[in-house]
Amino acid sequence: MIVQSIGKKLKTKLIGRQIYYYERLDSTQELAIGLAENNSEAVSGTAILAGRQERGKGRINSNWISPSGGIWLSIILIPNIPVDKGILLKFAAALAVCDAIEQKTGLESKVKWPNDILINHKKVCGILLDIATKGSRIEYAVIGIGINANVDVRTILPYIAGNDVSVTSLKNELAGKYVNRPSFLKLLFERFEHYYDYLEKEDLGGVVILNQIKDKLDILNAMVTVQQIDKTVEGLVMGLGLDGSLLLKKNDGSLIEVICGDTRARVTKQMHQLEQI
Ligand code: BTN
Repeated sequence: MIVQSIGKKLKTKLIGRQIYYYERLDSTQELAIGLAENNSEAVSGTAILAGRQERGKGRINSNWISPSGGIWLSIILIPNIPVDKGILLKFAAALAVCDAIEQKTGLESKVKWPNDILINHKKVCGILLDIATKGSRIEYAVIGIGINANVDVRTILPYIAGNDVSVTSLKNELAGKYVNRPSFLKLLFERFEHYYDYLEKEDLGGVVILNQIKDKLDILNAMVTVQQIDKTVEGLVMGLGLDGSLLLKKNDGSLIEVICGDTRARVTKQMHQLEQI
């Protein structure tokens, strides 16, 4: 039903042309990675959607609570971009989510670097990027997007670490009004393809995307502390580097680039480097 409703008028060439929908799934991300790893016919742009996830994955090995009503999806990509531009895929997805939120709900959203989408300073969406590399080539990428769409936030709060009240849903921000998910997804696919095309086809596509993300950053000119695996870094946010890193001015006046708050790497059975950024 959801797939037919999206498919009818979808204006993309790649993204969402093939959709697998499951009412219940452990994790769309794990399934998408499995398909990309084991199925040489996995088509770039294929989307895996779930009505709800039993073991949704968040960043840094966290759980992602994914009840019915949300938009939980992963997109398999075989991108023709260098590995060091891989992180830009995440920003392309973030811009697409912001566009879809704005056009479908009229709500203004912001980006919390590196990959959260906020409405009124509360997290409404998380983005996960897994990249498998071979040398300097991206073998495949899987972008996972979790949007608290028609989720009643009170139902997920008890499961969130420390009962983090800075979480919201589109429905909560719309005072109980439901979002039409097929129509939202259709637009999300179209906007993502727009930014993805930029990255793949335009030499300066990455710069355009970074500029747009910079405009949406909620932390520009703010003092931040970035938690890394072995240390924390503190500084004033000056902007973004060409690779998507955060440019911080430390208290001693020096400038540093923070690549990512939480990077982990693992080697898959096919000896790709699978990196989550
Ligand atoms: C974060 O920690 O902020 C990232 C959360 C990403 C959640 C999405 S939901 C769809 C996809 N499948 C998963 O298991 N995780 C991602």
